[in-house]
Amino acid sequence: MFKLENLIRENIKRLTPYSSARKEYSGAAQIFLDANENSFGSPLPENYNRYPDPLQTEIKRKIAVWNNVKPEEIFVGNGSDEAIDLLFRIFCEPKQDNVLICPPTYGMYEVSAEINDVRVKRASLTANFQLDYAALEKGMDENTKLLFICSPNNPTGNTFERKKILKLIENFRGIVVADEAYIHFSSEKSLVEKINDFPNLVVLQTFSKAWGLAGLRVGLAFASSEIIKLFNKVKPPYNVSQIAQETILRAIENKTKVEKTIAEIIVEREKLVDKLREFSFVTKIYPTDANFILVKTVDAEKIYKFLLDEKIVVRNRNNIELCAGCLRITIGMPEENESLLKALSAFYSEII
Ligand SMILES: Cc1ncc(COP(=O)(O)O)c(C=O)c1O
Repeated sequence: MFKLENLIRENIKRLTPYSSARKEYSGAAQIFLDANENSFGSPLPENYNRYPDPLQTEIKRKIAVWNNVKPEEIFVGNGSDEAIDLLFRIFCEPKQDNVLICPPTYGMYEVSAEINDVRVKRASLTANFQLDYAALEKGMDENTKLLFICSPNNPTGNTFERKKILKLIENFRGIVVADEAYIHFSSEKSLVEKINDFPNLVVLQTFSKAWGLAGLRVGLAFASSEIIKLFNKVKPPYNVSQIAQETILRAIENKTKVEKTIAEIIVEREKLVDKLREFSFVTKIYPTDANFILVKTVDAEKIYKFLLDEKIVVRNRNNIELCAGCLRITIGMPEENESLLKALSAFYSEII
């Protein structure tokens, strides 16, 4: 039986959270002398002298509607990286608890674990990048608090079968973190609709990818209101800036443009895949549901360096588990992809 209470660290249960001035007051006062802000304003014409809404009420109200969840079931963070770190701080006792990851996967799970002094157990994907159930089951013990499933997975690009992820959520006594940073590029449905069926499910999404707002640093976690209360208890009071909150609200007004961009990126992705296949030094292109492609080559280091000399940066994944010879290539604008292909043609001419 899943019991959230049993997973939370004792110090977090005991914690009296910081109570910010803006949290304590929500009436209609006109003179604010409560938060040591600068009433005279800044050197800029814009008004950023007041602290922002600590609970991002407007954003949550809008996101709740289109995701069919309650605002209390949403956490808005300084990127989804903030949500990842908070999960460690809420649930994982340093030096005692552990988390389970499925490499190759997003590197921040491991970095956050190390920062929080929490052991990482690994249930590596199979050779064709599928979840290894036997390894996952073997990896879980009574101190395993978090299981990270990234789908579509970074850097492999593939989506895991929904039925199988649901089975894992059902069978795991800790928290399953379904990282859906790239879900908007996939035809698979989000697991957000399942947060009421599974009290141990946390779904991460971000404005950094399909929404094209990586510079704002805004990410989301969807979960039961009990889990979201814990996020709010532990997070820094003003974790999302005024400018980020205002800009996200403007972006939401233009949501239809996001659908258009996603479609364009997918068209470009398929074009790039077709062209890359023509190079003899490309030995495999892995199927992808994301805005990037994992490409296996005969010599990733050499191609990576060649591209750098051409002022093109791709991600060298040669040294990570199951990815020998691989480069991860983000889909760019059509002219950027053309430049990449031109540089790769030059590389080809050089090696033959
Ligand atoms: C799988 C995955 N999750 C989370 C993130 C972090 O996203 P954010 O920009 O919201 O912190 C990334 C960024 O690359 C990612 O690839």
